[in-house]
Amino acid sequence: AFASGNPHENFRQCLTVNLTKDTSISQAVHTPANLSYSSVLDVSIQNLRFLTPDAPKPSFIITPVDVSQVQTVIYCSRKYGLQVRMRSGGHDYEGLSYLSGSPFVILDLVNLRAITVDAGNATAWVQSGATVGELYYRIGEKSTTLGFPAGVCPTVGVGGHFSGGGYGMMLRKYGLSADNIIDAQVADVNGKLLDRKSMGEDLFWAIRGGGGNTFGVVVSWKIRLVPVPETVTGFTVLRTLHQNATSLVHKWQFIAAEELPHELYMRVILQSRNGADGNRTIEAFFEALYLGEADELLDVMGSSFPELGLTREDCIEMPWINSTIYFAGFSGQPLEILLNRSSNTKSYFKYKSDYVKEPISEPVLEEIWKWLIKADQGALQMIWNPYGGRMSEISESAIPFPHRAGNIFKIQHLTSWTNGSVEESAKRISLIRSFYGFMAPFVSKSPRSAYINYRDLDIGMNNEFGNTSYGQASIWGTKYFNRNFDRLVRVKTAVDPSNFFRNEQSVPPLTSW
Ligand code: FDA
Repeated sequence: AFASGNPHENFRQCLTVNLTKDTSISQAVHTPANLSYSSVLDVSIQNLRFLTPDAPKPSFIITPVDVSQVQTVIYCSRKYGLQVRMRSGGHDYEGLSYLSGSPFVILDLVNLRAITVDAGNATAWVQSGATVGELYYRIGEKSTTLGFPAGVCPTVGVGGHFSGGGYGMMLRKYGLSADNIIDAQVADVNGKLLDRKSMGEDLFWAIRGGGGNTFGVVVSWKIRLVPVPETVTGFTVLRTLHQNATSLVHKWQFIAAEELPHELYMRVILQSRNGADGNRTIEAFFEALYLGEADELLDVMGSSFPELGLTREDCIEMPWINSTIYFAGFSGQPLEILLNRSSNTKSYFKYKSDYVKEPISEPVLEEIWKWLIKADQGALQMIWNPYGGRMSEISESAIPFPHRAGNIFKIQHLTSWTNGSVEESAKRISLIRSFYGFMAPFVSKSPRSAYINYRDLDIGMNNEFGNTSYGQASIWGTKYFNRNFDRLVRVKTAVDPSNFFRNEQSVPPLTSW
């Protein structure tokens, strides 16, 4: 009845007609005319680069309170030609869950965040709008010996995180979040609700790491919880250049992935600072989680990495649930901090990622230090995340995430800043791009691999109008998915041939070009 005229008005009416029986709908639809619009839009935006008045804004933000409303939003958006950007935790590095060049709506799942933990069967159902912090908290309420391998920052949303893989301090013992998903509920392009059985194994494979906003709206995930001991041990040890940081970081590359037990995850955070003598130095923070007690950890470190000089005083024993707040930087706070969706300090940032397959030599480490030292204090950071362990046991094609055996570690290159001026942003983005260029010879090649959850539009993009060719998309697609890219294209072609669910880095169907 309202198929012509203003598409926005048609969309609004479509929602009204299809949602009238639901009294809560007025609370679930936000337009620029509503007072709620800006706060609902801004609250989960993490990257301040995209929190500007001139960033493209959605015509509608819909915050469904039940799953049928998700289905209705898909139906009405498709019918009236509005793009859908779905958002769970809003942590996308490039803001793809809330920005678009085309007229669009945000389907914000913040109110769909129920978590049901079945400790007896070591499983849980978690809705996409939950954060990983909320998930950890609910698991901790039910059991002291169950956990889940997911991100370090508690405010990361389950929906985007699981869609791109998801890793944290238990990566080497249990793999990615996506490796531990056993069922899911997906609203497809027709608004139909599917579970693992009805979606089939191809689509179920694709949603576990093939990237968000591509195959449908994943409403809910069934996960396998993993055993953790009653006591785990954490430590953070700082070494500077005077304390042999260079040789320690060099040696770390030979043990962190292949020699240490799977129960030990030890990453390195690298940055520069002004030393007491006025000279710049490198800070190497060795930060680790051991799934066991301190005495065992000291034995392991004594035989594999005595050079670090880890002591009993460095080690903090705690229940696993407390380790989640320790690594998030909230030690001493009540566990309820995990439920705070705004606990992350927002900043302006640009991050990039790399995989390393051959250890980096000491002379090259010295060159890297020069870059970190030359940049303003703290302007350039690196986080080196060890692989190996369970990650090497899972085949490259088990799920779309391909970076398995043969990868020693992943690098996250970071620059973040607090002064949002155009000049500062341009300077920082240029800095990290140059540094990434410098790193090329020392990291994976053909393709130069990247982690999709560390979204980086510099590595390639789709066309704005959804007609991206296979060749164009494979430029970025093989970096994220390697040989799994082809299967993702096949699944996309089968489930969403019109490319309704799309963004700048969503897998395109073959029929769209
Ligand atoms: P957001 O809502 O922005 O969604 C990300 C993408 O997924 C978008 O394309 C979106 O449209 C899509 N999407 C969202 N919900 C969906 C759904 N229900 N169905 C289908 N598609 C959906 N990663 C990591 O592995 N380990 C870590 O420790 C961290 N730590 C970390 C800290 C901080 C401060 C940030 C900003 C980010 C991380 N990350 C991370 C990266 C994080 O995993 C990545 O940004 C996730 O995609 C974020 O998921 P959100 O739901 O929060 O993002």
